[in-house]
Amino acid sequence: MPPAVADKVALAGFRRILGDDAVLVDRGATAPYLVDQRRLYEGKALAVLRPSTVEQVSQLLAFCHGTRIGVVPQGGNTGYCGGATPDDSGLQVVLSLGRMDRVRSIDPVNYSMVAEAGCILANLQQAALQVDRYFPLSLGSEGSCQIGGNLSTNAGGLNVVRYGMARDQLLGLEVVLADGRVLSTLGELRKDNTGYDLKSLFVGAEGTLGVISAASLKLAPRPRAQATAFVAVRNVAAAVDLLNLLRETSGDRVSSFELIPNIAIELTTRHIAGVVQPLAGEYAWCVLCELTSSRAADDLDAMLESALSDAMDGGLLEDAALAQNERQRAAFWRLRESIPAAQRLEGPSLKHDVALPIGALPRFVAQASEWIAAHFPQAVLVAYGHVGDGNLHFNVNARRGADPVAFVASADALRHHVHDLVNSLGGSISAEHGIGRLKVDELERYAPALELELMRSIKSALDPNGIMNPGKVLKAI
Ligand code: MLT
Ligand code: ZN
Repeated sequence: MPPAVADKVALAGFRRILGDDAVLVDRGATAPYLVDQRRLYEGKALAVLRPSTVEQVSQLLAFCHGTRIGVVPQGGNTGYCGGATPDDSGLQVVLSLGRMDRVRSIDPVNYSMVAEAGCILANLQQAALQVDRYFPLSLGSEGSCQIGGNLSTNAGGLNVVRYGMARDQLLGLEVVLADGRVLSTLGELRKDNTGYDLKSLFVGAEGTLGVISAASLKLAPRPRAQATAFVAVRNVAAAVDLLNLLRETSGDRVSSFELIPNIAIELTTRHIAGVVQPLAGEYAWCVLCELTSSRAADDLDAMLESALSDAMDGGLLEDAALAQNERQRAAFWRLRESIPAAQRLEGPSLKHDVALPIGALPRFVAQASEWIAAHFPQAVLVAYGHVGDGNLHFNVNARRGADPVAFVASADALRHHVHDLVNSLGGSISAEHGIGRLKVDELERYAPALELELMRSIKSALDPNGIMNPGKVLKAI
């Protein structure tokens, strides 16, 4: 169908701002931007826009604000909740930040760098290492996710127990507001108490309040010693006890602490080439833990070994393997990082990205697993994740041979039960993956009324025409 007159005017406006090659309209060229990586959502768009500068983003938003065209910001498109996929009206535009990929500056003395939104996370890690510093945010998708998306979703990942989430890496932000004005708080200060912390509003807002175009980020000393172990724990409570023991006895050097159930070992060894069983026996629950230090002389292997031997004596552990070299360490991590892919290859799955106070994890896992076993015999629980931060991916896969349609149809009941339990234990229904489109109703169900009211007020103050990522996080106004 040829574009309508209004669409033609809009496309001409976009081309005037960006030039022809950065306005994609062909089906082949736009297709990868219109579907989320889990293939839960597939949308349509008037165009995919690929600006290279903040000035262009500013002009595009001013134009869309004036014409009330919905804008869906998109980074690496690796999100799990459909937050970066347009709706199926064909009236929205996708604003892809991938061309804005410059590290504007890096300052090893101040332990900071300023990077544009489209920088791939792994490239920022490398840039920091080049000046002998460390950018600690680390996720399975780090080879393709972008820092703008990481900040917009407040991503977590594998190092949060030590370094915090994306928000904790932030010193300042440059944001293009819905009407095109540019808010720049790109200073590189660690202390700045001059009024409201505006930058924080945009972190975790998933592009509903404005577009993050650049960020100034904290760096850390580069780790020079590390020790990694794959450990079979007696149960989830023993995993929590082991975490505390390691934090206390290592001088808080725990940088990762990941819970891995036996089923995840089964799935990864079955589906992912090169993944091997790390321990001789089979155990219901394992933990992958890592200590790191910036002091090359720290003997972390000895420290970890002694803590694990105490834990073994205290009855917390069933077995343990300490990585003897980098190859073995990489093999442990390959197993952990392959779990989502293995789950995908196994068949349909439902994800619950939940967080609880760490002490409540054992009770939650026991009660939720019992309920699933009793009510959803067609489901296999694959609960794993960042126990060091109280964040579990309490996912379930369809049992082999189960009817996939019936399995997916059971999603609402299952999700509500899991989230009701999380809520009753003081937890969160979205720990690190965000709300996107997937959990808009869940947010309404669980967020206190006053929080929702304040969120809506902020949304209408910053985006009065409702053009920023409409229908994500909050229902469209
Ligand atoms: C992970 O930690 O591997 C992902 O955040 C979780 C997931 O795929 O559910
Ligand atoms: Zn995760």
